[in-house]
Amino acid sequence: MHRKTIVAANWKMNGDVSLINEMTDALNAISISENQQVIICPPAPYLGALTQANTNARVAVGAQNINEQLKGALTGEVSALMLKDLSVQYVIVGHSERRSLFAETSGLVADKAKQALAQGLTPIVCIGESEQEREQGQTEQVLSEQLAPVLSALDSDELTDVVFAYEPVWAIGTGKTASAEMAQQTHRFIREYIAATDSDAADKVAILYGGSVNAGNYQELFAQPDIDGGLIGGASLKVEEFKTICLAE
Ligand code: PGA
Repeated sequence: MHRKTIVAANWKMNGDVSLINEMTDALNAISISENQQVIICPPAPYLGALTQANTNARVAVGAQNINEQLKGALTGEVSALMLKDLSVQYVIVGHSERRSLFAETSGLVADKAKQALAQGLTPIVCIGESEQEREQGQTEQVLSEQLAPVLSALDSDELTDVVFAYEPVWAIGTGKTASAEMAQQTHRFIREYIAATDSDAADKVAILYGGSVNAGNYQELFAQPDIDGGLIGGASLKVEEFKTICLAE
Protein backbone atom coordinates (compact mmCIF):
# COMPACT_ATOMS: atom_id res chain seq x y z
CA MET A 1 0.00 0.00 0.00
CA HIS A 2 1.57 3.31 -1.01
CA ARG A 3 0.69 6.02 1.44
CA LYS A 4 1.42 9.72 0.92
CA THR A 5 4.28 11.33 2.80
CA ILE A 6 3.00 14.02 5.13
CA VAL A 7 5.23 16.85 6.32
CA ALA A 8 3.42 18.73 9.08
CA ALA A 9 4.76 21.85 10.79
CA ASN A 10 3.84 22.37 14.41
CA TRP A 11 4.80 25.96 15.21
CA LYS A 12 3.56 25.64 18.83
CA MET A 13 3.33 29.11 20.43
CA ASN A 14 5.87 30.60 18.02
CA GLY A 15 5.83 32.59 14.80
CA ASP A 16 4.33 35.90 13.73
CA VAL A 17 2.86 37.63 10.69
CA SER A 18 6.27 37.93 9.06
CA LEU A 19 6.95 34.20 9.40
CA ILE A 20 3.52 33.49 7.85
CA ASN A 21 4.50 35.69 4.90
CA GLU A 22 8.05 34.34 4.54
CA MET A 23 6.92 30.73 4.79
CA THR A 24 4.05 31.09 2.32
CA ASP A 25 6.24 33.01 -0.16
CA ALA A 26 8.80 30.21 0.02
CA LEU A 27 6.27 27.36 -0.27
CA ASN A 28 4.13 29.04 -2.94
CA ALA A 29 7.25 29.16 -5.13
CA ILE A 30 8.15 25.45 -4.99
CA SER A 31 6.70 22.42 -6.68
CA ILE A 32 5.85 19.75 -4.13
CA SER A 33 5.48 16.16 -5.33
CA GLU A 34 1.94 14.84 -5.66
CA ASN A 35 2.91 12.05 -3.26
CA GLN A 36 3.56 14.61 -0.60
CA GLN A 37 1.16 16.61 1.62
CA VAL A 38 2.48 19.57 3.55
CA ILE A 39 0.51 20.94 6.51
CA ILE A 40 1.32 24.13 8.44
CA CYS A 41 -0.14 24.43 11.94
CA PRO A 42 0.45 27.97 13.22
CA PRO A 43 -1.03 29.43 16.42
CA ALA A 44 -4.81 29.98 16.06
CA PRO A 45 -4.69 33.79 15.53
CA TYR A 46 -2.68 33.27 12.32
CA LEU A 47 -4.90 30.61 10.73
CA GLY A 48 -6.93 33.07 8.63
CA ALA A 49 -3.85 34.91 7.36
CA LEU A 50 -2.16 31.63 6.44
CA THR A 51 -5.24 30.34 4.61
CA GLN A 52 -5.38 33.54 2.58
CA ALA A 53 -1.66 33.74 1.80
CA ASN A 54 -1.23 30.08 0.84
CA THR A 55 -1.69 29.34 -2.88
CA ASN A 56 0.13 26.01 -3.09
CA ALA A 57 -2.44 23.23 -3.55
CA ARG A 58 -0.13 20.72 -1.81
CA VAL A 59 0.03 22.86 1.33
CA ALA A 60 -2.88 22.63 3.78
CA VAL A 61 -3.58 24.58 6.95
CA GLY A 62 -3.94 22.92 10.35
CA ALA A 63 -4.70 24.07 13.89
CA GLN A 64 -2.93 22.91 17.04
CA ASN A 65 -5.94 22.16 19.22
CA ILE A 66 -9.75 22.29 19.41
CA ASN A 67 -12.31 22.08 22.13
CA GLU A 68 -14.43 18.95 21.94
CA GLN A 69 -17.62 21.08 22.05
CA LEU A 70 -18.91 22.99 19.03
CA LYS A 71 -19.88 26.27 20.74
CA GLY A 72 -20.86 27.77 24.05
CA ALA A 73 -19.63 29.59 27.14
CA LEU A 74 -16.04 28.34 26.94
CA THR A 75 -13.90 31.46 27.07
CA GLY A 76 -10.68 31.22 25.13
CA GLU A 77 -11.54 28.00 23.30
CA VAL A 78 -11.74 27.32 19.55
CA SER A 79 -14.12 24.82 17.95
CA ALA A 80 -13.93 22.55 14.92
CA LEU A 81 -16.83 24.52 13.39
CA MET A 82 -14.77 27.71 13.47
CA LEU A 83 -11.80 25.99 11.87
CA LYS A 84 -14.05 24.62 9.16
CA ASP A 85 -15.36 28.14 8.56
CA LEU A 86 -11.76 29.28 7.94
CA SER A 87 -11.12 26.37 5.50
CA VAL A 88 -8.70 24.75 7.93
CA GLN A 89 -8.36 21.05 7.05
CA TYR A 90 -6.33 19.48 9.85
CA VAL A 91 -6.07 19.76 13.62
CA ILE A 92 -3.46 18.36 16.00
CA VAL A 93 -5.04 16.68 19.03
CA GLY A 94 -3.37 15.19 22.09
CA HIS A 95 0.08 16.70 21.64
CA SER A 96 2.23 15.66 24.62
CA GLU A 97 2.44 19.30 25.74
CA ARG A 98 -1.36 19.41 25.94
CA ARG A 99 -1.43 16.08 27.77
CA SER A 100 1.20 17.11 30.32
CA LEU A 101 0.69 20.89 30.72
CA PHE A 102 -3.09 21.04 30.20
CA ALA A 103 -4.03 17.67 31.70
CA GLU A 104 -5.63 16.25 28.56
CA THR A 105 -6.55 12.59 28.97
CA SER A 106 -6.67 10.00 26.21
CA GLY A 107 -10.48 9.96 26.56
CA LEU A 108 -10.62 13.71 25.91
CA VAL A 109 -8.25 13.33 22.97
CA ALA A 110 -10.62 10.70 21.50
CA ASP A 111 -13.58 13.11 21.92
CA LYS A 112 -11.64 15.85 20.12
CA ALA A 113 -10.68 13.50 17.29
CA LYS A 114 -14.32 12.41 16.94
CA GLN A 115 -15.54 16.02 16.85
CA ALA A 116 -12.90 17.02 14.29
CA LEU A 117 -13.96 14.17 12.00
CA ALA A 118 -17.65 15.01 12.46
CA GLN A 119 -16.92 18.50 11.11
CA GLY A 120 -14.86 17.19 8.19
CA LEU A 121 -11.44 17.97 9.64
CA THR A 122 -8.60 15.45 9.77
CA PRO A 123 -7.25 15.01 13.30
CA ILE A 124 -3.52 14.44 13.76
CA VAL A 125 -3.63 12.30 16.90
CA CYS A 126 -0.38 12.42 18.87
CA ILE A 127 0.83 9.60 21.09
CA GLY A 128 4.17 8.88 22.73
CA GLU A 129 5.93 7.63 25.83
CA SER A 130 8.14 9.50 28.29
CA GLU A 131 11.81 8.70 28.80
CA GLN A 132 11.08 6.95 32.06
CA GLU A 133 8.33 4.85 30.48
CA ARG A 134 10.71 3.77 27.69
CA GLU A 135 13.45 2.92 30.18
CA GLN A 136 11.02 0.82 32.22
CA GLY A 137 9.90 -1.12 29.15
CA GLN A 138 6.40 0.39 29.21
CA THR A 139 6.38 1.94 25.73
CA GLU A 140 3.93 -0.49 24.14
CA GLN A 141 1.60 -0.44 27.13
CA VAL A 142 1.52 3.39 27.17
CA LEU A 143 0.90 3.61 23.42
CA SER A 144 -1.87 1.00 23.67
CA GLU A 145 -3.57 2.95 26.46
CA GLN A 146 -3.37 6.16 24.44
CA LEU A 147 -4.69 4.49 21.28
CA ALA A 148 -7.50 2.39 22.79
CA PRO A 149 -10.03 5.21 23.47
CA VAL A 150 -9.48 6.64 19.98
CA LEU A 151 -10.00 3.26 18.33
CA SER A 152 -13.17 2.58 20.29
CA ALA A 153 -14.62 6.07 19.64
CA LEU A 154 -14.27 5.93 15.86
CA ASP A 155 -15.95 3.76 13.25
CA SER A 156 -14.01 2.25 10.40
CA ASP A 157 -14.58 5.11 7.90
CA GLU A 158 -13.55 7.66 10.47
CA LEU A 159 -10.43 5.75 11.47
CA THR A 160 -9.20 5.59 7.88
CA ASP A 161 -9.15 9.41 7.79
CA VAL A 162 -7.06 9.86 10.94
CA VAL A 163 -3.38 10.80 10.86
CA PHE A 164 -1.40 9.47 13.84
CA ALA A 165 1.83 11.03 15.06
CA TYR A 166 4.21 9.01 17.20
CA GLU A 167 6.23 11.48 19.23
CA PRO A 168 8.44 10.02 21.98
CA VAL A 169 8.31 12.75 24.63
CA TRP A 170 12.06 12.45 25.29
CA ALA A 171 12.78 13.36 21.65
CA ILE A 172 10.62 16.50 21.49
CA GLY A 173 12.66 19.69 21.34
CA THR A 174 15.67 17.93 22.84
CA GLY A 175 17.76 17.20 19.75
CA LYS A 176 17.58 13.49 20.73
CA THR A 177 15.88 11.71 17.84
CA ALA A 178 14.83 8.09 18.05
CA SER A 179 17.03 6.07 15.71
CA ALA A 180 15.30 5.23 12.44
CA GLU A 181 15.32 1.59 13.50
CA MET A 182 13.77 2.27 16.90
CA ALA A 183 11.15 4.57 15.36
CA GLN A 184 10.29 1.98 12.69
CA GLN A 185 9.89 -0.72 15.33
CA THR A 186 7.49 1.45 17.31
CA HIS A 187 5.56 2.53 14.22
CA ARG A 188 5.21 -1.15 13.29
CA PHE A 189 3.80 -1.84 16.74
CA ILE A 190 1.30 1.05 16.37
CA ARG A 191 0.16 -0.18 12.94
CA GLU A 192 -0.26 -3.72 14.25
CA TYR A 193 -2.20 -2.47 17.26
CA ILE A 194 -4.58 -0.57 14.95
CA ALA A 195 -4.79 -3.64 12.68
CA ALA A 196 -6.11 -5.72 15.55
CA THR A 197 -9.19 -3.45 15.46
CA ASP A 198 -9.30 -2.75 11.73
CA SER A 199 -6.69 -4.17 9.37
CA ASP A 200 -7.90 -2.22 6.35
CA ALA A 201 -7.69 1.12 8.18
CA ALA A 202 -4.28 0.18 9.62
CA ASP A 203 -2.95 -0.23 6.12
CA LYS A 204 -4.27 3.16 5.04
CA VAL A 205 -3.62 5.48 7.99
CA ALA A 206 -0.57 7.70 7.97
CA ILE A 207 1.68 7.42 11.02
CA LEU A 208 4.08 10.37 11.31
CA TYR A 209 7.21 10.47 13.42
CA GLY A 210 7.87 13.55 15.56
CA GLY A 211 10.70 14.57 17.85
CA SER A 212 13.72 16.59 16.69
CA VAL A 213 13.18 15.87 12.99
CA ASN A 214 15.42 18.13 10.90
CA ALA A 215 16.97 18.48 7.46
CA GLY A 216 19.78 16.14 8.49
CA ASN A 217 17.72 13.16 9.66
CA TYR A 218 14.36 13.26 7.90
CA GLN A 219 15.39 11.14 4.89
CA GLU A 220 16.42 8.13 6.92
CA LEU A 221 13.32 8.36 9.09
CA PHE A 222 10.87 8.85 6.19
CA ALA A 223 12.45 5.92 4.30
CA GLN A 224 11.18 3.44 6.93
CA PRO A 225 8.23 1.36 5.71
CA ASP A 226 5.87 2.35 8.53
CA ILE A 227 6.91 6.01 8.82
CA ASP A 228 4.74 8.17 6.59
CA GLY A 229 6.34 11.55 7.24
CA GLY A 230 6.93 13.83 10.18
CA LEU A 231 5.42 16.26 12.65
CA ILE A 232 8.09 18.91 12.93
CA GLY A 233 8.46 21.56 15.62
CA GLY A 234 11.72 23.53 15.84
CA ALA A 235 12.87 22.90 12.26
CA SER A 236 9.49 24.03 10.88
CA LEU A 237 10.19 27.58 12.06
CA LYS A 238 13.24 27.83 9.79
CA VAL A 239 12.04 28.59 6.28
CA GLU A 240 14.98 27.14 4.31
CA GLU A 241 15.23 24.00 6.43
CA PHE A 242 11.50 23.34 6.30
CA LYS A 243 11.44 23.91 2.54
CA THR A 244 14.16 21.26 2.14
CA ILE A 245 12.06 18.74 4.09
CA CYS A 246 8.97 19.61 1.99
CA LEU A 247 10.92 18.66 -1.12
CA ALA A 248 11.59 15.20 0.36
CA GLU A 249 10.45 13.24 -2.69
P1 PGA B 1 10.42 19.18 17.72
O1 PGA B 1 8.86 19.15 18.09
O2 PGA B 1 10.54 18.87 16.25
O3 PGA B 1 10.88 20.58 18.06
O4 PGA B 1 11.08 18.14 18.55
C1 PGA B 1 7.99 18.21 17.53
C2 PGA B 1 6.61 18.34 18.15
O5 PGA B 1 6.51 18.56 19.36
O6 PGA B 1 5.57 18.22 17.46
